[in-house]
Parts: sequence; C-alpha cells; structure tokens
Amino acid sequence: MKQPAIAVTGLRKSFGDKVVLDGIDLTVQQGTIFSLLGPNGAGKTTTVQILSTLIGADAGQVRVAGHDLAAEPDAVRAAIGVTGQYSAVDGLLTGEENLVLMADLHHLGRAEGRRRTAELLGTFDLVEAARRPVATYSGGMRRRLDLAMTLVGDPKVIFLDEPTTGLDPRSRRTMWQIIRELVAGGVTIFLTTQYLEEADQLADRIAVLDHGRLVAEGTAAELKRLVPGGHIRLRFADLGGLDSAARLLGGSARDEEALTLHVPGDGGVGSLRALLARLEQAAVEVDTLSVHTPDLDDVFLALTDHPREKATSS
Ligand SMILES: Nc1ncnc2c1ncn2[C@@H]1O[C@H](COP(=O)(O)OP(=O)(O)OP(=O)(O)O)[C@@H](O)[C@H]1O
Ligand SMILES: [Mg+2]
Repeated sequence: MKQPAIAVTGLRKSFGDKVVLDGIDLTVQQGTIFSLLGPNGAGKTTTVQILSTLIGADAGQVRVAGHDLAAEPDAVRAAIGVTGQYSAVDGLLTGEENLVLMADLHHLGRAEGRRRTAELLGTFDLVEAARRPVATYSGGMRRRLDLAMTLVGDPKVIFLDEPTTGLDPRSRRTMWQIIRELVAGGVTIFLTTQYLEEADQLADRIAVLDHGRLVAEGTAAELKRLVPGGHIRLRFADLGGLDSAARLLGGSARDEEALTLHVPGDGGVGSLRALLARLEQAAVEVDTLSVHTPDLDDVFLALTDHPREKATSS
C-alpha cells in the first residue's frame, strides 16, 4: 500500500488557554479528497494552517507528502499548495502578473513561467480578464485565480480552505470539476467546507471536528448511517387508503391531513419491492411514494448541535 499523503496523530493546538485542537488523528490516502467539516470556530482553518506549515502545533506527529512536518518543513512546503479562506491575490496586479509572480517564486524560469501562466489562465477561464487588475474581478474570478496560483508549483497535496464560499452554483460546479480533475491526475486534496453537499459530492472521506476533537469520520454513506430518520413516505388518494395501509403496516407514523404514512426504512430496492407487494396484496392503492434518507446536514446537526459554553469556559 502507498504511504498516506497526510498522516496526523495526537495533534494539539491552543491559543492562550483556549484549546482549539485537543488531540486529532487523521489519515488521508494519496489521490483522494478528504473533507474536514465543523461549525464556525471549530479549528478547521487552524488545522489547515498547521498542516501547511504556516503555524506551529503544540504537540503531535504530522507527515505530509512523506515528510515530517517538524523535521523537514521546507520539503513539506515544496510538495504542497494552499488556498486560504481569504483570498491571497494582490488586487493591484493583473491576474497574469499574479501568476507570473507565483511562477517566479517557484523559480520556474521566464519561458516556463509564461507557459504555465498561459495554461492556467486557459484552464480557469481567465484569458479575457488576464490583463485587468484583480481588484476589478468578481468573487468567483478571484477564487479561480486563487486556485490557479496554488497550482503553479504543481503541488502533490493541496489544502483548500472553503474554496467555494461565495460562489454561485455554476461557478461552484466548475470548481468541483477542476478539483475532480486534479485528483484524477493523482493529487491529494484536503478540503474544508461549510457546504455539506460539497463534501457529499467530492469527498472520499469526511471528518467532523467539534470541541477540538474529531467526533466522526468515514465516507458520506457511513456518516449518514449514524443518524436515524430514513423513511418511505406513502401518500394516499383518500382517508380510506391511508387507514387500510396504517392497519397493514403497524408502527408507521400517519398524517391524516396530508394523507401520508411514514414507514421506517432505508429505501433499499428489496424492501421497497416487499412493501409495495404487501400493499398490492391487500388491494391498497398508493398515490405517490418518495424515499427520504438522512443527508449530511442531518449528520452535522446531530453531531455538533449542542451549546458551546462548555468548551469556551473550560
Ligand atoms: N491567531 C489566533 N489567536 C487566537 N485565537 C485564534 C487564532 N486563530 C484562531 N483562533 C481561535 O481558534 C478557534 C478556531 O479558529 P479557526 O479559524 O481554526 O476556526 P474555523 O473552524 O476555521 O472556523 P470558520 O468556519 O469560521 O472558518 C477560534 O475560536 C478562533 O477564535
Ligand atoms: Mg476557517
């Protein structure tokens, strides 16, 4: 098995007497997308800053791209790219100048720097805006330039702190597509987001950070199984149908006004087929049927939905 792109054990960080990371363990395999979720102030940006060498940790072992963070920070820096939560581009320079500057920082050389700049401007649909000061760009254009600048040095591991915050749905999907293509090319992505659908769409594995600890970790499907609430909603044409079905399927919640019955279940094809067969045998007509599975929003709220006083006062 390949060595992981990121391996973290016992990571701790406090600011003053405020404990932000209280012993974090996580592993991210090469060529995968890992998403860190958590409420505002949970420590996501702090984690990204530590893993990308921008700030120091108080304790813990971290290896990124095969290098020990404490012993070889320069080697880690050479292997990674970071797109911060707040745009790092220079508004007075043009998009092109920002990219060329980045290419210089990576010592790409004049010709290669120009080539890479042109290529990235094309990939990120910024060719037309290339010669305009970034101050005149929209939020979405800035975000795209931000990521383009991260890619100048061909990083193996990329940290993206809320890469699509403030983007419209189309720009968000464009960004997702770019991220997927990067991963297809072997890059590893460590992503924080407040959009749970984004984690659901992109991430191979997801971790939820709360009160300084990872309170859950797994695939989106695994996390969804942690919260109850999956059900099949049957709607009937009249009260007679609802009554018959309710008698047949004891233990289901009925709503007389909406003429619906909620039958607990995961919506698997086998159980749906069996359910419909039972109704048909009993000659009960169902008007419409829909399957409700818990989404990541439900998971997030169930895992992190409690007052924060305890953490701030301790
Ligand atoms: N330099 C600092 N000095 C003191 N406290 C800090 C510093 N940086 C972060 N903190 C505190 O650490 C906690 C975690 O902050 P962090 O920015 O990592 O949260 P986050 O999960 O990224 O939140 P958000 O979703 O709002 O971006 C917060 O309580 C914050 O106030
Ligand atoms: Mg943050």
